[in-house]
Amino acid sequence: MSFPKGFYWGGATAANQLEGGWQEGGKGISCPDICTGGTATKSKRITPVLEEGTFYPSHDAIDHYHRFKEDIALFAEMGFKMYRFSIAWTRIFPNGDEDKPNEAGLKFYEELIDECLKYGIEPLITISHYEVPFNLTKKWNSWVDRRMIDCYLNFCRAIFTRYKGKVKYWLTFNEINSATTAMGAFLGQGILNEIKEMEFMDQVDVPQNRFQGLHHQFIASALAVKMAHEIDPNYQVGCMQIMATSYGLTCNPNDQIENQQKNHLMNWFCSDVQCRGKYPNYIKRYFKENNIEIKMEEGDEEILATGPVDFYTCSYYMSNCQTADKTKEGGKGNILGGVPNPYLKASDWGWQIDPVGLRYSLNEIYDRYQLPIFVVENGLGAYDTIDEDGKVRDSYRIDYLRSHIEQMHEAVLDGVDLKGYTPWGCIDLVSASTGEMAKRYGFIFVERYDDGTGDFARRRKESFYWYKKVIETNGEDL
Ligand code: BG6
Repeated sequence: MSFPKGFYWGGATAANQLEGGWQEGGKGISCPDICTGGTATKSKRITPVLEEGTFYPSHDAIDHYHRFKEDIALFAEMGFKMYRFSIAWTRIFPNGDEDKPNEAGLKFYEELIDECLKYGIEPLITISHYEVPFNLTKKWNSWVDRRMIDCYLNFCRAIFTRYKGKVKYWLTFNEINSATTAMGAFLGQGILNEIKEMEFMDQVDVPQNRFQGLHHQFIASALAVKMAHEIDPNYQVGCMQIMATSYGLTCNPNDQIENQQKNHLMNWFCSDVQCRGKYPNYIKRYFKENNIEIKMEEGDEEILATGPVDFYTCSYYMSNCQTADKTKEGGKGNILGGVPNPYLKASDWGWQIDPVGLRYSLNEIYDRYQLPIFVVENGLGAYDTIDEDGKVRDSYRIDYLRSHIEQMHEAVLDGVDLKGYTPWGCIDLVSASTGEMAKRYGFIFVERYDDGTGDFARRRKESFYWYKKVIETNGEDL
């Protein structure tokens, strides 16, 4: 078994989860910078006013800002062909709404891109990954306000022009469909309906704001695609979705309808708009029944129609089940909801592991859009330990990744046009949902702990050598 020639093997990260250097080079404060750490069972907190003595994981993260050369050399040692990372909006526009970009920020990413190119690693850049400038949250409640579109496009213009000729692949918004759930409002969109200190799980949900915010993001994404093509016809711009695979819990038709509706909302609504260039019919009923009214301007439909993305990307971690039986207890997961699947085991964070679901999903996506696909996040968050001999033996992570790669290969045999695979957190970093370091995904262990201790030293895990071999053999030796 091997993958198509030129398959992009690599890894993925996000600025706020690994860079640190939160105020260096003129960087402004972003939404994650005001979030404290949490754990699997204790919610992180949002503190609009930074508290003296409180630990904020994004402030130093894993200090990639100062160590990116060492990190990229390690990625190159594994043989990466692609590295997906994001650009912190607040490094380029510290408050989000300045007219001119910040040179120090542009220069930082230029060096990072050059470092990738030095090793023949293709950059895949997420323009906005879960970190809106906090100033825009305070000023306009972020994407709820249409003026965000211009700020975002200024950001795009600055990076599209600066990195022309060096970069080919861009993603407009990380997991844009997270905003179809209450948890995605602040995390994904920077929307905070009450500016006060609170637990992350206690945010006041205003669905109208989330969906109006999404409309503005759709317009921004479509205009960004158009702008990218104008600036450089070689640019390819993709969408990025959480693939929240779910199954009807039973063959009761009501469970199947429940599942279909959940899929419409969660999995297909955003990608239908971004890939097909228009709102799907089914969402109109959902809006009506949930009192959501989208304010559109004249010309918006045309903008959407002329800005569909060039390719589709998604994260895939887990799956769950849907049922019409409301007495059934909900399962855990990456903001998906749903009920547990009796056939699947779960990670220590309750995420149900389902490699076959990846093959199933890739087929569903390709049937729907016939666009090239990249799996740009996948992986196992686990508690890793360093053994006495200094080794990190993460065979459970190898098992997880191996079984998912096998199923991706099945999907390729099924005819899916799969272009690349960049597993999440290729180097240990801060968890987006819980804010902890203890939930590790990497091939590289980072000595940084949740009490703020650790010297940031990097250490190759067992999975590092395994993944190197996978890449060397183009997926043949698993
Ligand atoms: C995705 C995000 O939801 O999942 C990443 O794009 C995130 O930012 C990843 O880190 C894993 O989730 P978590 O909560 O385990 O960090």
